[in-house]
Amino acid sequence: PDFAGADEQLAGRHILVTAGPTHEPIDPVRYIANRSSGKQGFAIAAAAARAGAKVTLVAGPVHLPTPAGVDRIDVETAREMLAAVEGALPADAAIMVAAVADWRTADAAEQKLKKDGSGQPAPLSLVENPDILATLGHHARRPSLLIGFAAETQNIAEHAQAKLVRKGADWIVANDVSGDVMGGDSNSVQIVTSAGIESWAAMAKSDVATKLIEKVANAISAVAD
Ligand code: CTP
Ligand code: CA
Repeated sequence: PDFAGADEQLAGRHILVTAGPTHEPIDPVRYIANRSSGKQGFAIAAAAARAGAKVTLVAGPVHLPTPAGVDRIDVETAREMLAAVEGALPADAAIMVAAVADWRTADAAEQKLKKDGSGQPAPLSLVENPDILATLGHHARRPSLLIGFAAETQNIAEHAQAKLVRKGADWIVANDVSGDVMGGDSNSVQIVTSAGIESWAAMAKSDVATKLIEKVANAISAVAD
C-alpha cells in the first residue's frame, strides 16, 4: 500500500494465526492435550497487528490475554479449529503455530467414565485429527503465503523439509524443542523454504515474532504489489 509507513507494512492485509494446544475430550471431565502455552502464536498475532494487519487469531485453550488490535476466536478441539480457520478465509497469509492434537478419541463418552472394579482401565480408542495446515495448503482459497511451525527434537531441518512438501506450505518454522521451549519465553528456530534454510539465533519469542512478521511483510509486498 502506498501510504503505509515503515511500521504499517501490513496495512490492508489479513493475517490468520492459530495458537495454543487443542483439547480433545475423553469424557465430560477429561481430555487429551499437549504442553503448548500459546505464547509464540500470540506474540506473532500481536506483531502482525502492530504492523497494521487485520489479524484473526484462532486460539486453543490458553491462559493469555488477547493482544491489542487482534480478533480472537476461541476453540477447544482440532475440528473446531479447522472450522474457525476455514471460516476466517480469505487471508493474505496464514501462520499455523498451534500445536494441534494429532489424535482424538474415536467417540467421547457422554457421561464420566467410571472405574468398574476390575482393575482394568477402559480402553481409549483414538482416530487421527484433520491436518489444518495441509487442508489450507490444498485449499481453493489457499492464502498466498502459508506458514507452518514444526516442533522437533531431532533431525530438525530434514523433518521440516518433509512437512513443507507434504502439507503444501511455503515456509516451515522449525522449532528445536529438545530444551525447555514449551512454555518458556525464548525460542530457537530455523526457517525452511524451498530455497533453503535460514537459522536464527536463539531469541525471545517476542523477537522471533517481530522478525517473522517483517519477513512476512517483505514476502507479501514482493508477490502482491
Ligand atoms: N498441524 C495442523 N493440523 C494437525 C497437525 C499439525 O495444522 N492436525 C500443523 C501445525 O499447526 C504446524 C504443522 O502442522 O504448523 C506441523 O505440526 P507438527 O505437529 O510438527 O506436524 P505433524 O504432521 O503432526 O507431524 P508429527 O508426527 O511430527 O507431530
Ligand atoms: Ca503433530
